[in-house]
Amino acid sequence: MTPSGPPPGRLAIFPGSFDPLTNGHVDIVLRCAHLFERVLIAVLVNPGKQPLFTADERVGIIREVFREYPNVEVDTFDGLLVEYARRRRASAIVRGLRAVSDFEYEFQMALMNRHLEPTLETVFMMPAEQYTYLSSRLIKEVFGLGGAVQGLVPPIVEDSMRKKQGMRA
Ligand code: PNS
Repeated sequence: MTPSGPPPGRLAIFPGSFDPLTNGHVDIVLRCAHLFERVLIAVLVNPGKQPLFTADERVGIIREVFREYPNVEVDTFDGLLVEYARRRRASAIVRGLRAVSDFEYEFQMALMNRHLEPTLETVFMMPAEQYTYLSSRLIKEVFGLGGAVQGLVPPIVEDSMRKKQGMRA
């Protein structure tokens, strides 16, 4: 009998809200795509929150951004991340660490996830320096107040935000 292990090629899951995807996220995905055979961007479906973009819209945008990267996949998930990772037979969870302020929350999550699934490692990656101050929350705030977000998010994200704004006006 052959032992049942993960499929060939290590899969890293990069989970998050991605509301919206920023260039900081893109930076992490590209670094991750160099390290792992496959990267799965997992968009959290959180019915409790009022997101700017629906989960399907976020998936569509992210797929478009990475359409030239055959080893980058995009999906949605709900419920426990470790359950989803188990189902997808992932080897690691990848999270971006921008500053020390991220550390405590990320450390708590990583250790809780390890408690729930000891075989699943969390790997932290640092984005390029110019993205260390970037967050989806700030992007929404700045854009909503008329500030420029060019260069901070992929062009398709900016276009989609503009469309949303038009629809809400
Ligand atoms: O982009 P975010 O909002 O910082 O991502 C947070 C995310 C999606 C990684 C986290 O909220 C999560 O994993 N949610 C799924 C539910 C879960 O597993 N919670 C326990 C985490 S220890």
